[in-house]
Amino acid sequence: MRTNDVLILGIETSCDETAAAVLLNGRRLLSQVISSQTKAHAVFGGVVPEIASREHCLHLGPTVQTALSEAGVGFADLSAIAVTYGPGLVGSLLVGVAGAKAMAFAAGKPLIAVNHLEAHVYANFLEQPDLEFPLLALLVSGGHTHLVLLRRHLDCLVLGRTRDDAAGEAFDKVARALGLGYPGGPALERAAREGDPAAFFFPRAALENGSLDFSFSGLKSAVLNMLNRARQRGDEIRLADVAASFQQAVVDILAWKTIAALETTGVPTLVLGGGVAANQALRERMQAETQARGLRFLCPAPVYCTDNGAMVAVCGYFRYKEGYFADWRLNAVPGLSLHDFYKESEKM
Ligand code: KG4
Ligand code: ZN
Repeated sequence: MRTNDVLILGIETSCDETAAAVLLNGRRLLSQVISSQTKAHAVFGGVVPEIASREHCLHLGPTVQTALSEAGVGFADLSAIAVTYGPGLVGSLLVGVAGAKAMAFAAGKPLIAVNHLEAHVYANFLEQPDLEFPLLALLVSGGHTHLVLLRRHLDCLVLGRTRDDAAGEAFDKVARALGLGYPGGPALERAAREGDPAAFFFPRAALENGSLDFSFSGLKSAVLNMLNRARQRGDEIRLADVAASFQQAVVDILAWKTIAALETTGVPTLVLGGGVAANQALRERMQAETQARGLRFLCPAPVYCTDNGAMVAVCGYFRYKEGYFADWRLNAVPGLSLHDFYKESEKM
């Protein structure tokens, strides 16, 4: 370690992954540990908030210890501890925030408050720390679907958002109706590989002229109604075809709105973030659309699309550089929006 080195521990507990990572100078990931709770929730078919909080309590300490020891560093070597404080499940967030505060206080290190949505966008800086602004980000997760313009570091302007279900939520609900279990998104993607995306036509909501907002509830309902009708009539339908046709509709909606945003803003670079960005069909479509227009496209590796500590660490690194630190009053903010992140962070 050199004196100018910036070493950030990133902690993520907003939903059902307990994750920690250690990042050196914003570009060298020294360790990354994700303790997944999938098994604990799978039996219930979705995330049970109370179980998630308890699992975080059990796993936060060991996850952080493993991240530090794999990185070959101790608390004393850290420059700061960054933690997700919202949005997410309140009980889950509280475990991470309380844990990070205790660790930072005991180690005498600064605390950095990270917005989970911003961290998903910042996952792109892990592979490309010198990514140039402006950027357009399509953020697609289990709880959010946003088109975001980044004009400079830590300056996010939401251009469009979902008016009902998030893209990931639609994947999860349709996967459940198809009996694919939890977690739904990856299972639906696997099923779709064997299906015909043109087998069924499902609606793609365009909304008013010029709107960059999304809507997925009509699409979700159309799939669920079609399945119910087929079951009542005793019709044989290939579930893989339903999965592929649904996925195609989601990808179309996301692609059309994103292209419209790129054309309206004239921004030369598109980045993806959030769990749904791990979807191969979406990645390939965005790659093709941007290539055809001579635009730059970046997408984090799938492991950095779904919840992880590295994205919190890299976002924390840029906050550290800008001098934004949190104080001991930091609390979990389950309904935090992308615009809110300065309120609880103090510039020092
Ligand atoms: O970002 P994330 O890990 O957690 C939230 O912040 O919500 O996103 C989780 C969401 C879930 O809805 C999950 O089904 C979806 O991302 N997801 C996928 C894929 N992998 C995860 N959706 C489609 N295809 C995937 N391969
Ligand atoms: Zn997430």
